[in-house]
Amino acid sequence: MAQLLITGGAGFIGSHTCLALLEAGHNLIVLENYSNSSNEALRRVAELAGVRLGDRITLLQGDIRNQEDLEMAFSQEKKTIDAVVHFAGLKAVGESVQQPLRYWDVNVGGTCSLLGAMKRHGCRTIVFSSSATVYGYPKKVPIQETAIVQPISPYGRTKAAVEKLLTDVSESEDGWCIACLRYFNPVGAHSSGRIGESPYGMPNNLFPFVCQVAVGQRKELKIFGGDWPTTDGTPVRDYIHVMDLAEGHCAALEVLMRERPQVLTINLGCGYGYSVLEVVKAFESVSSMDVPFKIVARRPGDVSCSIADSTLAANRLGWVTRRNLVDMCRDAFAWQKDNPFGYFSKND
Ligand code: NAD
Ligand code: UD1
Repeated sequence: MAQLLITGGAGFIGSHTCLALLEAGHNLIVLENYSNSSNEALRRVAELAGVRLGDRITLLQGDIRNQEDLEMAFSQEKKTIDAVVHFAGLKAVGESVQQPLRYWDVNVGGTCSLLGAMKRHGCRTIVFSSSATVYGYPKKVPIQETAIVQPISPYGRTKAAVEKLLTDVSESEDGWCIACLRYFNPVGAHSSGRIGESPYGMPNNLFPFVCQVAVGQRKELKIFGGDWPTTDGTPVRDYIHVMDLAEGHCAALEVLMRERPQVLTINLGCGYGYSVLEVVKAFESVSSMDVPFKIVARRPGDVSCSIADSTLAANRLGWVTRRNLVDMCRDAFAWQKDNPFGYFSKND
Protein backbone atom coordinates (compact mmCIF):
# COMPACT_ATOMS: atom_id res chain seq x y z
CA MET A 1 0.00 0.00 0.00
CA ALA A 2 1.46 3.34 -1.05
CA GLN A 3 0.58 7.00 -0.61
CA LEU A 4 0.20 8.38 -4.13
CA LEU A 5 -0.27 11.82 -5.64
CA ILE A 6 -2.43 11.73 -8.76
CA THR A 7 -2.40 14.81 -10.98
CA GLY A 8 -5.38 15.19 -13.32
CA GLY A 9 -7.15 12.33 -11.55
CA ALA A 10 -10.69 13.49 -12.37
CA GLY A 11 -10.11 13.16 -16.13
CA PHE A 12 -11.03 10.25 -18.36
CA ILE A 13 -8.00 8.02 -17.77
CA GLY A 14 -7.22 9.44 -14.31
CA SER A 15 -10.65 8.62 -12.87
CA HIS A 16 -10.56 4.99 -14.05
CA THR A 17 -7.00 4.62 -12.79
CA CYS A 18 -7.92 6.13 -9.40
CA LEU A 19 -10.54 3.40 -9.08
CA ALA A 20 -8.05 0.64 -9.96
CA LEU A 21 -5.45 2.09 -7.55
CA LEU A 22 -7.96 2.32 -4.69
CA GLU A 23 -8.98 -1.27 -5.38
CA ALA A 24 -5.29 -2.24 -5.29
CA GLY A 25 -5.16 -0.78 -1.75
CA HIS A 26 -3.34 2.53 -2.35
CA ASN A 27 -4.23 5.86 -0.73
CA LEU A 28 -4.64 8.82 -3.08
CA ILE A 29 -4.31 12.58 -3.06
CA VAL A 30 -5.71 14.03 -6.29
CA LEU A 31 -4.54 17.42 -7.53
CA GLU A 32 -6.94 18.78 -10.17
CA ASN A 33 -7.81 22.14 -11.66
CA TYR A 34 -10.99 20.73 -13.30
CA SER A 35 -10.17 22.52 -16.56
CA ASN A 36 -11.44 19.45 -18.44
CA SER A 37 -13.30 17.44 -15.81
CA SER A 38 -15.77 17.43 -12.96
CA ASN A 39 -15.38 16.38 -9.33
CA GLU A 40 -18.49 14.27 -9.85
CA ALA A 41 -16.18 11.71 -11.52
CA LEU A 42 -14.21 11.28 -8.30
CA ARG A 43 -17.35 11.23 -6.17
CA ARG A 44 -18.45 8.25 -8.26
CA VAL A 45 -14.99 6.66 -8.10
CA ALA A 46 -15.17 6.77 -4.30
CA GLU A 47 -18.66 5.30 -4.40
CA LEU A 48 -17.54 2.43 -6.68
CA ALA A 49 -14.50 1.73 -4.49
CA GLY A 50 -16.64 1.83 -1.33
CA VAL A 51 -14.55 4.58 0.31
CA ARG A 52 -15.49 8.01 1.61
CA LEU A 53 -14.08 11.14 -0.04
CA GLY A 54 -11.48 12.54 2.33
CA ASP A 55 -10.76 9.09 3.68
CA ARG A 56 -8.53 7.07 1.31
CA ILE A 57 -8.97 9.60 -1.48
CA THR A 58 -8.46 13.32 -0.88
CA LEU A 59 -9.34 15.91 -3.52
CA LEU A 60 -7.34 19.12 -3.81
CA GLN A 61 -8.32 21.77 -6.29
CA GLY A 62 -5.12 23.26 -7.71
CA ASP A 63 -2.83 23.60 -10.66
CA ILE A 64 0.39 21.71 -11.33
CA ARG A 65 1.99 25.01 -12.44
CA ASN A 66 1.33 26.64 -9.06
CA GLN A 67 4.02 26.06 -6.40
CA GLU A 68 1.64 26.77 -3.52
CA ASP A 69 -0.80 24.18 -4.82
CA LEU A 70 2.01 21.66 -5.14
CA GLU A 71 3.25 22.42 -1.62
CA MET A 72 -0.30 21.88 -0.34
CA ALA A 73 -0.44 18.51 -2.12
CA PHE A 74 2.96 17.30 -0.86
CA SER A 75 2.29 18.45 2.73
CA GLN A 76 -1.26 17.12 2.88
CA GLU A 77 -0.46 13.93 4.75
CA LYS A 78 2.11 13.32 7.49
CA LYS A 79 3.38 10.37 5.48
CA THR A 80 5.59 11.28 2.51
CA ILE A 81 4.28 10.67 -0.97
CA ASP A 82 5.75 7.46 -2.35
CA ALA A 83 4.99 8.10 -6.01
CA VAL A 84 3.22 10.43 -8.43
CA VAL A 85 0.96 9.32 -11.27
CA HIS A 86 0.94 12.28 -13.62
CA PHE A 87 -2.09 12.61 -15.92
CA ALA A 88 -2.63 16.38 -15.78
CA GLY A 89 -2.22 17.97 -19.18
CA LEU A 90 -3.90 19.19 -22.33
CA LYS A 91 -4.54 16.64 -25.05
CA ALA A 92 -6.33 18.03 -28.12
CA VAL A 93 -4.11 17.87 -31.18
CA GLY A 94 -5.97 20.54 -33.21
CA GLU A 95 -6.10 22.95 -30.26
CA SER A 96 -2.35 22.49 -29.73
CA VAL A 97 -1.74 23.81 -33.25
CA GLN A 98 -3.75 26.95 -32.39
CA GLN A 99 -2.38 27.40 -28.86
CA PRO A 100 1.17 26.00 -28.70
CA LEU A 101 2.24 28.30 -25.84
CA ARG A 102 -0.58 27.07 -23.64
CA TYR A 103 0.29 23.44 -24.45
CA TRP A 104 4.01 23.91 -23.69
CA ASP A 105 3.16 25.84 -20.52
CA VAL A 106 0.79 23.22 -19.07
CA ASN A 107 2.35 20.02 -20.38
CA VAL A 108 6.04 20.87 -20.15
CA GLY A 109 6.11 23.82 -17.70
CA GLY A 110 3.61 22.05 -15.42
CA THR A 111 5.74 18.90 -15.39
CA CYS A 112 8.87 20.96 -14.57
CA SER A 113 7.10 22.49 -11.56
CA LEU A 114 5.86 19.10 -10.45
CA LEU A 115 9.35 17.56 -10.67
CA GLY A 116 10.76 20.48 -8.66
CA ALA A 117 8.22 19.85 -5.90
CA MET A 118 8.95 16.11 -5.97
CA LYS A 119 12.65 16.84 -5.54
CA ARG A 120 12.03 19.18 -2.58
CA HIS A 121 9.85 16.58 -0.89
CA GLY A 122 12.09 13.57 -1.49
CA CYS A 123 9.76 11.83 -3.91
CA ARG A 124 11.59 10.30 -6.91
CA THR A 125 9.05 7.94 -8.45
CA ILE A 126 6.71 9.00 -11.25
CA VAL A 127 4.47 7.41 -13.85
CA PHE A 128 3.94 9.74 -16.80
CA SER A 129 1.10 9.70 -19.38
CA SER A 130 2.89 9.72 -22.69
CA SER A 131 1.27 8.89 -26.00
CA ALA A 132 1.71 6.87 -29.17
CA THR A 133 1.44 10.27 -30.84
CA VAL A 134 5.22 10.65 -30.21
CA TYR A 135 5.81 8.19 -33.09
CA GLY A 136 4.25 10.53 -35.67
CA TYR A 137 3.97 8.71 -39.02
CA PRO A 138 5.23 5.23 -38.04
CA LYS A 139 7.61 3.60 -40.52
CA LYS A 140 6.65 0.08 -39.41
CA VAL A 141 3.72 -1.47 -37.50
CA PRO A 142 3.41 -2.91 -34.90
CA ILE A 143 5.43 -0.05 -33.42
CA GLN A 144 8.25 -0.93 -31.03
CA GLU A 145 9.40 1.46 -28.30
CA THR A 146 12.73 1.74 -30.14
CA ALA A 147 11.01 3.32 -33.17
CA ILE A 148 12.03 6.86 -34.03
CA VAL A 149 10.28 9.58 -32.01
CA GLN A 150 9.10 12.14 -34.54
CA PRO A 151 5.87 13.80 -33.41
CA ILE A 152 3.92 15.81 -35.97
CA SER A 153 1.93 18.19 -33.75
CA PRO A 154 2.72 20.63 -30.93
CA TYR A 155 0.82 18.29 -28.56
CA GLY A 156 3.03 15.36 -29.60
CA ARG A 157 6.15 17.49 -29.26
CA THR A 158 5.21 18.41 -25.66
CA LYS A 159 4.91 14.69 -24.83
CA ALA A 160 8.26 13.91 -26.44
CA ALA A 161 9.83 16.89 -24.62
CA VAL A 162 8.57 15.66 -21.24
CA GLU A 163 9.99 12.19 -21.95
CA LYS A 164 13.40 13.84 -22.62
CA LEU A 165 13.05 16.02 -19.51
CA LEU A 166 12.35 12.95 -17.38
CA THR A 167 15.42 11.18 -18.78
CA ASP A 168 17.59 14.23 -18.02
CA VAL A 169 16.23 14.39 -14.46
CA SER A 170 16.81 10.66 -13.96
CA GLU A 171 20.46 11.13 -14.94
CA SER A 172 21.00 14.16 -12.71
CA GLU A 173 21.08 12.21 -9.43
CA ASP A 174 20.55 8.70 -8.13
CA GLY A 175 17.17 7.47 -7.01
CA TRP A 176 14.81 8.59 -9.76
CA CYS A 177 12.50 5.89 -10.95
CA ILE A 178 10.32 6.75 -13.94
CA ALA A 179 7.79 5.10 -16.25
CA CYS A 180 6.77 6.80 -19.49
CA LEU A 181 3.67 4.97 -20.65
CA ARG A 182 2.85 5.51 -24.32
CA TYR A 183 -0.89 4.98 -24.59
CA PHE A 184 -2.41 3.97 -27.91
CA ASN A 185 -6.17 4.77 -28.27
CA PRO A 186 -7.89 4.63 -24.86
CA VAL A 187 -11.67 4.09 -25.15
CA GLY A 188 -14.63 2.58 -23.32
CA ALA A 189 -15.76 3.10 -19.75
CA HIS A 190 -16.04 1.26 -16.45
CA SER A 191 -18.45 -1.67 -16.80
CA SER A 192 -20.77 -0.14 -14.16
CA GLY A 193 -21.62 2.71 -16.55
CA ARG A 194 -20.96 5.14 -13.66
CA ILE A 195 -17.68 6.64 -14.95
CA GLY A 196 -16.59 7.28 -18.51
CA GLU A 197 -15.34 9.86 -20.97
CA SER A 198 -17.11 13.22 -20.70
CA PRO A 199 -15.89 15.52 -23.46
CA TYR A 200 -16.93 19.17 -23.55
CA GLY A 201 -18.81 20.07 -26.76
CA MET A 202 -18.19 18.27 -30.03
CA PRO A 203 -16.00 15.18 -29.49
CA ASN A 204 -12.77 15.01 -31.52
CA ASN A 205 -12.26 11.29 -31.07
CA LEU A 206 -14.01 8.41 -32.76
CA PHE A 207 -15.55 6.52 -29.82
CA PRO A 208 -17.38 9.40 -28.11
CA PHE A 209 -18.61 10.57 -31.50
CA VAL A 210 -19.95 7.13 -32.47
CA CYS A 211 -21.66 6.85 -29.05
CA GLN A 212 -23.43 10.16 -29.61
CA VAL A 213 -24.57 9.08 -33.08
CA ALA A 214 -25.82 5.73 -31.75
CA VAL A 215 -28.03 7.40 -29.12
CA GLY A 216 -29.31 9.92 -31.67
CA GLN A 217 -27.54 13.03 -30.31
CA ARG A 218 -25.74 13.49 -33.64
CA LYS A 219 -27.05 12.72 -37.08
CA GLU A 220 -24.13 10.87 -38.61
CA LEU A 221 -20.48 10.01 -38.25
CA LYS A 222 -18.09 11.51 -40.75
CA ILE A 223 -15.40 8.96 -41.55
CA PHE A 224 -12.19 10.74 -42.43
CA GLY A 225 -11.14 9.04 -45.66
CA GLY A 226 -12.07 5.78 -47.35
CA ASP A 227 -8.97 5.50 -49.49
CA TRP A 228 -6.30 4.58 -46.93
CA PRO A 229 -4.04 1.59 -47.70
CA THR A 230 -5.93 -0.72 -45.31
CA THR A 231 -8.24 -3.69 -45.96
CA ASP A 232 -11.45 -1.61 -46.10
CA GLY A 233 -9.89 1.80 -46.87
CA THR A 234 -10.51 3.29 -43.40
CA PRO A 235 -7.69 3.88 -40.88
CA VAL A 236 -6.68 1.25 -38.33
CA ARG A 237 -6.00 1.95 -34.64
CA ASP A 238 -5.04 -0.02 -31.56
CA TYR A 239 -8.01 0.72 -29.27
CA ILE A 240 -7.43 -0.12 -25.62
CA HIS A 241 -10.14 -0.41 -22.97
CA VAL A 242 -9.62 2.29 -20.35
CA MET A 243 -9.84 -0.27 -17.52
CA ASP A 244 -7.05 -2.32 -19.13
CA LEU A 245 -5.07 0.91 -19.31
CA ALA A 246 -5.84 1.62 -15.64
CA GLU A 247 -4.57 -1.84 -14.71
CA GLY A 248 -1.44 -1.15 -16.78
CA HIS A 249 -0.71 1.80 -14.46
CA CYS A 250 -1.07 -0.41 -11.38
CA ALA A 251 1.35 -2.91 -12.94
CA ALA A 252 3.88 -0.19 -13.85
CA LEU A 253 3.74 1.29 -10.37
CA GLU A 254 4.35 -2.09 -8.77
CA VAL A 255 7.41 -2.67 -10.97
CA LEU A 256 8.77 0.81 -10.18
CA MET A 257 8.36 0.34 -6.45
CA ARG A 258 9.69 -3.22 -6.39
CA GLU A 259 12.59 -3.05 -8.85
CA ARG A 260 13.49 0.67 -8.93
CA PRO A 261 14.42 0.86 -12.65
CA GLN A 262 15.76 4.27 -13.73
CA VAL A 263 13.50 4.86 -16.75
CA LEU A 264 11.01 2.50 -18.36
CA THR A 265 9.40 3.57 -21.64
CA ILE A 266 6.58 1.24 -22.54
CA ASN A 267 3.72 1.05 -25.07
CA LEU A 268 0.29 0.37 -23.61
CA GLY A 269 -1.88 -1.05 -26.37
CA CYS A 270 -3.52 -4.36 -27.26
CA GLY A 271 -1.13 -5.25 -30.06
CA TYR A 272 -3.82 -5.45 -32.74
CA GLY A 273 -5.93 -2.93 -34.58
CA TYR A 274 -9.39 -2.28 -35.97
CA SER A 275 -10.52 -0.08 -38.84
CA VAL A 276 -13.08 2.68 -38.37
CA LEU A 277 -15.67 0.59 -40.26
CA GLU A 278 -15.00 -2.40 -37.99
CA VAL A 279 -15.58 -0.18 -34.95
CA VAL A 280 -18.85 1.11 -36.45
CA LYS A 281 -20.05 -2.47 -37.12
CA ALA A 282 -19.12 -3.63 -33.61
CA PHE A 283 -21.02 -0.67 -32.15
CA GLU A 284 -24.11 -1.39 -34.21
CA SER A 285 -24.05 -4.99 -33.12
CA VAL A 286 -23.68 -4.35 -29.35
CA SER A 287 -26.14 -1.43 -29.28
CA SER A 288 -28.69 -2.74 -31.81
CA MET A 289 -28.72 0.83 -33.12
CA ASP A 290 -27.76 2.16 -36.55
CA VAL A 291 -24.68 4.31 -36.82
CA PRO A 292 -25.21 6.29 -40.04
CA PHE A 293 -21.96 7.47 -41.59
CA LYS A 294 -20.60 9.34 -44.55
CA ILE A 295 -17.07 9.03 -45.92
CA VAL A 296 -15.49 12.46 -46.22
CA ALA A 297 -11.99 13.82 -46.88
CA ARG A 298 -9.03 12.66 -44.78
CA ARG A 299 -8.31 14.61 -41.58
CA PRO A 300 -4.97 16.42 -41.74
CA GLY A 301 -2.34 14.76 -39.55
CA ASP A 302 -4.05 11.34 -39.49
CA VAL A 303 -1.98 8.21 -40.04
CA SER A 304 -3.12 5.09 -41.86
CA CYS A 305 -2.31 2.53 -39.21
CA SER A 306 -1.14 2.69 -35.60
CA ILE A 307 -0.69 -0.54 -33.64
CA ALA A 308 1.46 -1.16 -30.57
CA ASP A 309 4.06 -3.82 -30.26
CA SER A 310 2.98 -4.83 -26.76
CA THR A 311 5.74 -7.38 -26.10
CA LEU A 312 7.70 -5.15 -23.72
CA ALA A 313 4.63 -4.42 -21.58
CA ALA A 314 3.95 -8.15 -21.26
CA ASN A 315 7.58 -9.03 -20.47
CA ARG A 316 8.51 -6.09 -18.25
CA LEU A 317 5.20 -5.36 -16.49
CA GLY A 318 3.59 -8.80 -16.69
CA TRP A 319 0.54 -6.98 -18.06
CA VAL A 320 -1.66 -7.81 -21.04
CA THR A 321 -5.06 -6.45 -22.04
CA ARG A 322 -8.07 -8.56 -21.05
CA ARG A 323 -10.94 -6.75 -22.77
CA ASN A 324 -11.88 -6.87 -26.47
CA LEU A 325 -13.59 -4.56 -28.96
CA VAL A 326 -17.06 -5.79 -27.96
CA ASP A 327 -16.31 -4.91 -24.30
CA MET A 328 -15.07 -1.47 -25.36
CA CYS A 329 -18.20 -0.74 -27.43
CA ARG A 330 -20.62 -2.21 -24.87
CA ASP A 331 -19.16 -0.26 -21.94
CA ALA A 332 -18.87 3.00 -23.90
CA PHE A 333 -22.48 2.67 -25.07
CA ALA A 334 -23.83 1.86 -21.58
CA TRP A 335 -22.04 4.93 -20.17
CA GLN A 336 -23.42 7.14 -22.98
CA LYS A 337 -26.98 5.87 -22.56
CA ASP A 338 -27.01 6.45 -18.80
CA ASN A 339 -25.10 9.76 -18.94
CA PRO A 340 -26.05 11.46 -22.21
CA PHE A 341 -24.24 14.66 -21.22
CA GLY A 342 -21.44 12.97 -19.29
CA TYR A 343 -21.04 14.52 -15.82
CA PHE A 344 -22.61 17.76 -17.03
CA SER A 345 -26.20 18.79 -17.50
CA LYS A 346 -27.63 19.54 -20.93
CA ASN A 347 -27.19 23.29 -20.44
CA ASP A 348 -23.55 23.28 -19.28
P1 NAD B 1 -8.46 14.49 -19.54
O1 NAD B 1 -8.46 15.85 -20.13
O2 NAD B 1 -9.75 13.79 -19.37
O3 NAD B 1 -7.67 14.49 -18.16
C1 NAD B 1 -6.63 15.40 -17.86
C2 NAD B 1 -6.97 16.02 -16.52
O4 NAD B 1 -5.95 16.95 -16.16
C3 NAD B 1 -8.29 16.80 -16.55
O5 NAD B 1 -9.11 16.33 -15.50
C4 NAD B 1 -7.88 18.25 -16.35
O6 NAD B 1 -8.86 18.99 -15.65
C5 NAD B 1 -6.58 18.09 -15.60
N1 NAD B 1 -5.65 19.22 -15.78
C6 NAD B 1 -5.32 19.83 -16.94
N2 NAD B 1 -4.44 20.81 -16.72
C7 NAD B 1 -4.18 20.81 -15.40
C8 NAD B 1 -3.35 21.59 -14.56
N3 NAD B 1 -2.61 22.58 -15.07
N4 NAD B 1 -3.32 21.33 -13.24
C9 NAD B 1 -4.09 20.33 -12.72
N5 NAD B 1 -4.90 19.56 -13.46
C10 NAD B 1 -4.95 19.79 -14.79
O7 NAD B 1 -7.48 13.60 -20.45
P2 NAD B 1 -7.23 12.04 -20.40
O8 NAD B 1 -7.75 11.47 -21.66
O9 NAD B 1 -7.65 11.47 -19.11
O10 NAD B 1 -5.65 12.04 -20.53
C11 NAD B 1 -4.81 11.97 -19.39
C12 NAD B 1 -3.37 12.09 -19.84
O11 NAD B 1 -3.08 11.06 -20.78
C13 NAD B 1 -3.06 13.41 -20.54
O12 NAD B 1 -1.77 13.82 -20.16
C14 NAD B 1 -3.07 13.04 -22.01
O13 NAD B 1 -2.24 13.86 -22.78
C15 NAD B 1 -2.56 11.61 -21.98
N6 NAD B 1 -3.02 10.80 -23.10
C16 NAD B 1 -4.35 10.70 -23.35
C17 NAD B 1 -4.79 9.94 -24.43
C18 NAD B 1 -6.25 9.82 -24.75
O14 NAD B 1 -6.60 9.37 -25.83
N7 NAD B 1 -7.17 10.16 -23.89
C19 NAD B 1 -3.86 9.27 -25.24
C20 NAD B 1 -2.50 9.38 -24.94
C21 NAD B 1 -2.08 10.14 -23.85
C1 UD1 C 1 -5.95 11.15 -31.80
C2 UD1 C 1 -4.78 12.11 -31.91
C3 UD1 C 1 -3.61 11.51 -31.18
C4 UD1 C 1 -3.98 11.22 -29.74
C5 UD1 C 1 -5.17 10.28 -29.73
C6 UD1 C 1 -5.59 10.00 -28.34
C7 UD1 C 1 -5.03 13.32 -34.02
C8 UD1 C 1 -4.52 13.50 -35.40
N1 UD1 C 1 -4.45 12.32 -33.31
O1 UD1 C 1 -5.57 9.91 -32.37
O2 UD1 C 1 -2.53 12.41 -31.20
O3 UD1 C 1 -2.91 10.61 -29.05
O4 UD1 C 1 -6.25 10.89 -30.46
O5 UD1 C 1 -6.92 10.02 -28.13
O6 UD1 C 1 -5.91 14.01 -33.57
N2 UD1 C 1 -12.29 9.32 -37.02
C9 UD1 C 1 -13.31 9.49 -37.93
N3 UD1 C 1 -14.31 10.35 -37.62
C10 UD1 C 1 -14.36 11.05 -36.45
C11 UD1 C 1 -13.30 10.86 -35.50
C12 UD1 C 1 -12.27 9.99 -35.84
O7 UD1 C 1 -13.29 8.89 -39.00
O8 UD1 C 1 -15.30 11.84 -36.22
C13 UD1 C 1 -11.20 8.38 -37.33
C14 UD1 C 1 -9.84 9.03 -37.42
O9 UD1 C 1 -9.54 9.42 -38.74
C15 UD1 C 1 -8.92 7.90 -36.94
C16 UD1 C 1 -9.79 7.06 -36.01
O10 UD1 C 1 -11.13 7.44 -36.27
O11 UD1 C 1 -8.56 7.10 -38.01
C17 UD1 C 1 -9.48 7.31 -34.56
O12 UD1 C 1 -9.52 8.72 -34.35
P1 UD1 C 1 -9.33 9.39 -32.93
O13 UD1 C 1 -10.23 8.73 -31.96
O14 UD1 C 1 -9.44 10.86 -33.10
O15 UD1 C 1 -7.85 8.96 -32.53
P2 UD1 C 1 -6.48 9.18 -33.36
O16 UD1 C 1 -6.66 10.02 -34.54
O17 UD1 C 1 -5.90 7.85 -33.59
